[in-house]
Amino acid sequence: MNYASLLKEYKSLLTGYWITDLANTSAFLMSEYPRINWVGFYLLEGQKLFLGPFQGKPACTEIAVGRGVCGKSVQSQQVMVVDDVHTFPDHITCDVNSRSEMVIPLFKNQEMIGVLDIDSPEVARFDLESQNFFKAVTEALLERQNARPSGVHFS
Ligand code: SME
Repeated sequence: MNYASLLKEYKSLLTGYWITDLANTSAFLMSEYPRINWVGFYLLEGQKLFLGPFQGKPACTEIAVGRGVCGKSVQSQQVMVVDDVHTFPDHITCDVNSRSEMVIPLFKNQEMIGVLDIDSPEVARFDLESQNFFKAVTEALLERQNARPSGVHFS
């Protein structure tokens, strides 16, 4: 897997428009990243995550902070990697085919604004290399928004 060239290709898609970039990030990852069945964003509003742009089966629309893998990532402000969602007691099932999951928190100037969530139908799909890749994707996404003179496109 050539992560460097994938990241380069991804960066060339970014526009600085928030929703545009969230939508294309999901589409890019779903089409280019192998062996995943759901990828997308949950955006934080108060104490709840709301479903944002994504690719995959329709998913749950709201997740409270602290609930599920996504809510736990927000609460802990940490990347979450779940090798087998069947063994994670508070996992929220959106697609029954999902077996492993990675959640990357998104920070805007140190403030938590949401998460990138990736599901795979394979157990233990995500290793440290993939974690670093998805982190680099979110960093590029957020840097591109910050590079715009106006913040109006950022929720
Ligand atoms: N499994 C997630 C919910 C979102 S779906 O996977 C798209 C969770 O437990 O937070």
